[in-house]
Amino acid sequence: MADDTSDPSDTSDTAWTREGGTPSTPATLTSGPTVLDARELIAGYIPEVNILNGCNLSVHAGEFVGIIGPNGAGKSTLLKAILGQCAIRSGTVHLGDADITGRQAHELVALGVGYVPQVRNVFPSLTVKENLEMGCYLAPKRFPQRYEYVTSLFPRLLERAAQRADALSGGERQMVAMGRALMMEPKVLLLDEPSAGLSPVLQDEVFVRCRTINQEGVAILMVEQNARRCLQVVHRGYVLDQGQNAYTGTGRDLLGDPNVIELYLGTLARATGG
Ligand SMILES: Nc1ncnc2c1ncn2[C@@H]1O[C@H](COP(=O)(O)OP(=O)(O)O)[C@@H](O)[C@H]1O
Ligand SMILES: [Mg+2]
Repeated sequence: MADDTSDPSDTSDTAWTREGGTPSTPATLTSGPTVLDARELIAGYIPEVNILNGCNLSVHAGEFVGIIGPNGAGKSTLLKAILGQCAIRSGTVHLGDADITGRQAHELVALGVGYVPQVRNVFPSLTVKENLEMGCYLAPKRFPQRYEYVTSLFPRLLERAAQRADALSGGERQMVAMGRALMMEPKVLLLDEPSAGLSPVLQDEVFVRCRTINQEGVAILMVEQNARRCLQVVHRGYVLDQGQNAYTGTGRDLLGDPNVIELYLGTLARATGG
């Protein structure tokens, strides 16, 4: 990738572990208040075709939660259902105490939900700064303070402030998308495959930034194709398969679960020829 100019010694698979290693079981977090709660969601795009078949998911205040699972499992659909972009046929979604089932994405932004879709997540013809302004359009007065925060988190965005988003590398565009979602100071940030298409170094960078954002108090729900990395960085994970919860546990527990390894993490499956 064009901007992959970082120290080559940084390419270690576990570069992020320098930031402190796999997080420990967040007992204090899971006993705390729930920020986001999806119960028994049945949802789909086409009438009578259900993609989600009774999904459950919760994110506690301050928690970093991952969703992994095979392609087509319904991971993106779960985020879209939470964001009112896929019809919910039954079940509920709560944001704190508020029932937000079926509420539209723009309403949810005002309520403290940030969302970074996997694709088309920046305005290509706008500059970096204009993209960030768009993230703050509901509360323009907050722009200077949030702009300062987001550009301190992603200094590259300050350097690139006047450039159009379509002139950026994939990694920089991802920073713009995440930065824009942070402009309204969300309580919870929903990320759909933030590391997709990035080099290993930039993937690490994304995970490290996510962890920083989380440590500063923002709950994160992250869908990831890169299952192993995801489970290494989150507090808790969900394995989704065919629109249903398959496994749930701390990242560490899931990483060590033989069934999860065999079915979803690949190593054992390959090692045993299965
Ligand atoms: N807009 C859509 N209209 C109809 N079907 C869709 C749409 N988006 C996704 N699907 C279908 O929903 C299923 C789950 O897709 P998705 O949630 O994108 O899976 P994942 O993110 O886990 O790879 C797939 O079978 C996919 O073809
Ligand atoms: Mg997806």
